[in-house]
Amino acid sequence: MAGIELKKIQKSYVVDGRSLPVLNGINLQIPEKSITVILGRSGCGKTTLLRLVGGLEAPDSGEIQFDAAHRTAFVFQESRLMPWLNVWDNVKFGLKKQPCADASIQSIIDTVGLSGFEKAYPHQLSGGMQQRAAIARALAYDPSFIMMDEPFAALDFFTREQMQRELIRLQKSRGASILFVTHSIDEALLLGHKIIIIENGQVKKEFLINTDSDERDLLAKELIELKREILAQLNL
Ligand SMILES: Nc1ncnc2c1ncn2[C@@H]1O[C@H](COP(=O)(O)OP(=O)(O)OP(=O)(O)O)[C@@H](O)[C@H]1O
Ligand SMILES: [Mg+2]
Repeated sequence: MAGIELKKIQKSYVVDGRSLPVLNGINLQIPEKSITVILGRSGCGKTTLLRLVGGLEAPDSGEIQFDAAHRTAFVFQESRLMPWLNVWDNVKFGLKKQPCADASIQSIIDTVGLSGFEKAYPHQLSGGMQQRAAIARALAYDPSFIMMDEPFAALDFFTREQMQRELIRLQKSRGASILFVTHSIDEALLLGHKIIIIENGQVKKEFLINTDSDERDLLAKELIELKREILAQLNL
């Protein structure tokens, strides 16, 4: 299957002279053109996993296989926009080596609902708008994989819901492949086509959610059952 495959990935950090194992020979498959959610407790190694898959760090051992040439873009918990650049220039940032037509930058800004705010600076935007600008910046890079590390964690409930809906729409319209880290079970249930629970540096359980419907109802019987199973897996 096309996508990314992790084989026996080991990763430890040295903290205060002692080795701290984080990922213990983890195996997993991240399919393309869908949303794969990594779910787990704080400190279980989710960000580490994302950094390894995105090539920001190297594993101690094991292999990460990509089925084809790939470009990865990141969206972090905070927007990490350049405060001295307006929305347009933030989106354009990093594209110097790969010029992007003005029309396509505009269309990406429109896609994330920031039309009219091209000239606004980050401090003139709400938290949700800043996050949308960060997503636009990632999309402008035309990535084959987007790594998202709790991108909506700092947002209020309503903005978060809206952003989740937008992400689902974006993923569908662009056929994007997304690796999404969260510790919100509801967020995982709303977004994930595949949900991977990590514990002790290993995959504890994987769930596939098969649905064609655009809007998932968290109160639907199947999703409530799945939530119960996930809670049990997380020992909650
Ligand atoms: N650069 C680093 N140096 C040393 N230890 C690190 C480093 N990065 C992460 N760790 C350790 O690795 C473990 C996993 O960290 P990681 O950031 O991957 O967790 P996480 O699952 O993303 O947690 P959270 O949900 O709180 O973001 C933690 O115990 C952390 O202390
Ligand atoms: Mg993290």
